[in-house]
Amino acid sequence: MSFPKYDSSAAWRADDMVNDQSWIFRIEDEAATQMAAAVLRGYDADRPLFDYAPSDFDFGPGLDTVRASVREAHFGRGFALTKGLPRGHLSADQFQLLVWGIGLHLGVARPQGRASQYISEVRATGSTYRAAGGRGYNTNAGLDFHADACDIVALACFNQAKSGGQSMISSSTSAWQTLVSERPDLAQVATDKFYFSRNQEEAPNENPFYGQPIFDFEDGRIFGKWNRNRIRTAQELPRVPKLSDAQLECADLLDDILSRPDMMFTMQLEPGDLQFMNNHLVLHSRTEFEDFEEPERQRLLYRLWLATPDSVALPETWGVYFRSITPGSVRGGFCGHQHDDACREFEERQAKALGMTVPALMIDPPLTEVA
Ligand SMILES: [Fe+2]
Repeated sequence: MSFPKYDSSAAWRADDMVNDQSWIFRIEDEAATQMAAAVLRGYDADRPLFDYAPSDFDFGPGLDTVRASVREAHFGRGFALTKGLPRGHLSADQFQLLVWGIGLHLGVARPQGRASQYISEVRATGSTYRAAGGRGYNTNAGLDFHADACDIVALACFNQAKSGGQSMISSSTSAWQTLVSERPDLAQVATDKFYFSRNQEEAPNENPFYGQPIFDFEDGRIFGKWNRNRIRTAQELPRVPKLSDAQLECADLLDDILSRPDMMFTMQLEPGDLQFMNNHLVLHSRTEFEDFEEPERQRLLYRLWLATPDSVALPETWGVYFRSITPGSVRGGFCGHQHDDACREFEERQAKALGMTVPALMIDPPLTEVA
């Protein structure tokens, strides 16, 4: 059995990130001030986010720096960091609008869960990560390695935690290479379907779970996906096939590989940092954190899930989860329970502004037979 290695700049190890930090992009102070001014000009606490258009935010050269960062996430290492967002000039709501405005220039925001929210506040609200309907972003728990449900995730830091909350990233390409060299039999298993729960966030016309391999290949590229927590919760659902011994062994080895010190790169997001990750090229997790007592100092990040004009063709097996595998299409996200006409109008308007396509399946997905 032999597999391609898919050597590329996305096949990095932790040391590579330390030795070459060209994945860090910095917005100069003057450019940051210009970005803050653009936000303050457009800020209206009563205006819904859906009403804003890219042309409402004239961000100037700071946006070029952000775009370079996104290119690195798309076609380089699979992740990048932009430092220097004007955090000190803005309230939390204004900072949220800054992130939203940046997103309007970059792609089409995707809904992120049951409430069909298009931007999420990542903060501890007392929820339980390991529950059948649990999510990670609204807890202070350490998280399993996983990919988010979109092409590109943008995470902007407003406040960091009192302690902990470090961001961990591993290259899925390097994990694949390691799996192939250590256990080619389990690499083969990883290219077969695993079943993931939607953790009770499915839309009325979606199944509560879906099947997808951990690795697949398209157009000379490798694509990774992982979420151990959702494989675990899927096992409790009716109709989901039980994991085989080989699948369990594969899952354990993959978790081990992803968290090895030579594979896993650890970083701390600081206020004003904006991290981009390409979910097909890297997998991520986070350590548990402790918050400050004062609510205004507690850990707070704003998260966007983006479909972008630069996205590439996905493997066919990615189609159920992303609902489209077409390059540059509006795909990914969890439609959730409140995906209404206002959501659809926003998506279509944004897609038009960016020259992207909205597949019919995005609007009315059929109930698919997944098991
Ligand atoms: Fe995530």
